[in-house]
Amino acid sequence: MLTNQKVVIIGGTSGIGLETAKQVIAQGAEVIIASRSEVKLQKAKELLGSSASSYALDMTQEEQVKSFFTSIGPFDHLVVSAAETTGGAFLETDTTVVRKLFDNKFWGQYYAAKYGAPNISSGGSITLFSGVVAYKTMIGSSMLGAVNAAISNLGQTLALELAPIRVNIVSPGIIDTPSRGKMPEETRNQFYASVAGKLPVKRVGRAEDVAQSVLYLIQNSFVTGTALHVEGGHILT
Ligand SMILES: NC(=O)c1ccc[n+]([C@@H]2O[C@H](COP(=O)([O-])OP(=O)(O)OC[C@H]3O[C@@H](n4cnc5c(N)ncnc54)[C@H](OP(=O)(O)O)[C@@H]3O)[C@@H](O)[C@H]2O)c1
Repeated sequence: MLTNQKVVIIGGTSGIGLETAKQVIAQGAEVIIASRSEVKLQKAKELLGSSASSYALDMTQEEQVKSFFTSIGPFDHLVVSAAETTGGAFLETDTTVVRKLFDNKFWGQYYAAKYGAPNISSGGSITLFSGVVAYKTMIGSSMLGAVNAAISNLGQTLALELAPIRVNIVSPGIIDTPSRGKMPEETRNQFYASVAGKLPVKRVGRAEDVAQSVLYLIQNSFVTGTALHVEGGHILT
């Protein structure tokens, strides 16, 4: 149970972050969700109920991240599932696109860990988000693979530097979340079917699958410095 525990989820308004918020609340925790869109924050808060409070935050902005943690004060667990990612052929992708990706997925998590850690209780934890392309080389994922690998390495080093706070990394595979909302439905379904066909588990992931893993990392006080692969056996294929 997470009774009397406060969990901060940056990215808690959608996909894996929102599902994690539901699951930690079900365990008795109080949750603070943060993301950029007021509309998403409002919708998520309505869904999560009175155990959730929400903050508008763009985690790519260092000063905003600093003042966010100053204003919320002490808490127990930090989960940073927020990201906006892109892929593309190495030679054809503009450098500005890659810098934006690093600003969002790397620097956002870096700022969150840096300014969040001093507020975390000694039995607390940080969960960062990497992804399967850090571990399974794929054409078109050179930039995303590099960002995810950087996060995995950052998290493992922080497990030593920030101890006794535990720091772990979740590495999801292909998960059906709103992150692919811009893909036409038919293309998305074809993509999911083709991935599912290759995986030992014969399906793509659900946000619930990954949220369960976040819960495990938050609750198991003997686990730190771990990159937990939640990807249906993708790296074996
Ligand atoms: N889904 C997959 O297949 C998959 C695969 C591998 C790894 N992952 C990783 O898993 C994590 C969660 O992914 P997901 O699929 O759950 O994503 P999602 O459904 O798109 O949710 C992303 C969340 O991040 C927030 N966000 C994005 N940029 C932000 C910023 N600069 N500041 C604050 N909040 C920001 C979004 O809200 P706002 O728009 O309101 O800011 C949203 O709440 C990410 O790290 C992703 O890279 C996912």
